[in-house]
Amino acid sequence: MLPLPSPHTLLGGLGPERFLRHHWQRQPLLVRQAWPDLRSPLDAETLAGLALEAEVESRLIRRTGDLWQLEHGPVPEQTFLALPETDWTLLVQDVDKLLPDLQAVLDAFRFVPAWRLDDLMVSYAAPGGSVGAHVDQYDVFLLQAQGRRRWQIDRRPDACRRERDDTPLRLLERFEPSDEWILEPGDMLYLPPGVPHHGVAVDACMTWSIGFRAPTDRDLLAELLQMLLESGEPERVFADPGRAPATHPALLDAGSRRQGCTLLRQCLEGLDDGLLERAFARAASRGKPGFQGRAPEQAVSAESVRAHLNAGGRLASHPALRVVLLEDGDSGWCYMEGDEFRLEPEPFALLSRLASERVLSMAALRPWLDRPDCMGLLLDLINQGHWELVSDADG
Ligand code: SIN
Ligand code: CO
Repeated sequence: MLPLPSPHTLLGGLGPERFLRHHWQRQPLLVRQAWPDLRSPLDAETLAGLALEAEVESRLIRRTGDLWQLEHGPVPEQTFLALPETDWTLLVQDVDKLLPDLQAVLDAFRFVPAWRLDDLMVSYAAPGGSVGAHVDQYDVFLLQAQGRRRWQIDRRPDACRRERDDTPLRLLERFEPSDEWILEPGDMLYLPPGVPHHGVAVDACMTWSIGFRAPTDRDLLAELLQMLLESGEPERVFADPGRAPATHPALLDAGSRRQGCTLLRQCLEGLDDGLLERAFARAASRGKPGFQGRAPEQAVSAESVRAHLNAGGRLASHPALRVVLLEDGDSGWCYMEGDEFRLEPEPFALLSRLASERVLSMAALRPWLDRPDCMGLLLDLINQGHWELVSDADG
């Protein structure tokens, strides 16, 4: 397992509070030796091995002069064998979920809620390799894991953000850097959404991108609609008393248009915050499709859980699991992969504890194991594949 730096070191001495106040979503931050002595447990061959697989999201980007070529994975082995010495980059998404050794990288960023985390993307670039100058719509920490990369950014508010339409990548039409650094292993650059940036490998190098996500208004509205459909609440119906005679059978007249908009607005305004918060929590708990936990081959029993923990075994959450908790006094709502359930105080406390760390041992869980309601919850979580029993050898 990777030794993690303290949040203080990772954030260049700022500490989470100051970082979040001054930089998060606001302005870039370069941290030299954010992760001192970082040794990547991952090499280029392993990364290429992942990109061979059909279910892994990967991209190979090649550049010849100003000609850019994008190939989505799976990348055939022959393609790797024929790659030139320079000017290409291989990018693999969700490495945290694919390689258990690397899950711990995300633990260093727990000063941001886990439901905001998207994934660890790893890129390996030959000298000169780059994905071009572009803008991302999410927060990202770019951690240099091997070799050196030159990063240029344009932090000016009026930076050009128009995209070219002559390449398969979303490259910027124009890029004029305001800042430039060469990052060495262990150095890190934080970028908020919307900052134009351009990284070019100085020598063969590997960059880890810890990327975040944020629900959009459409995500939330889709979730809210789903909840309304399931709620059994009475529906409001379009009404048109005193309407004017129709001038054309197909025309949506001005009065009807107004009334339709009012109906929609009143629907949203009539909803209490509790329901809106639950829709938000449900949306935030949805993981990436394709990574859901799988039920164990054989259902586990209370005895086997106790025996496992007593023997020094541990309980680990599925790498793609996103738990969201909404407190309501001592009890609360819990969300996982869009499922919502209400928990009484003790089971709620157990779930909060479970969701507070990726891996837990008997010492952390003992207070709940003799309560039938808590043990019942634990067994459900394990038998649905959200948590699993692991030994030290599994990490
Ligand atoms: C890279 O790792 O090459 C690109 C990461 C980024 O610019 O978002
Ligand atoms: Co980017």
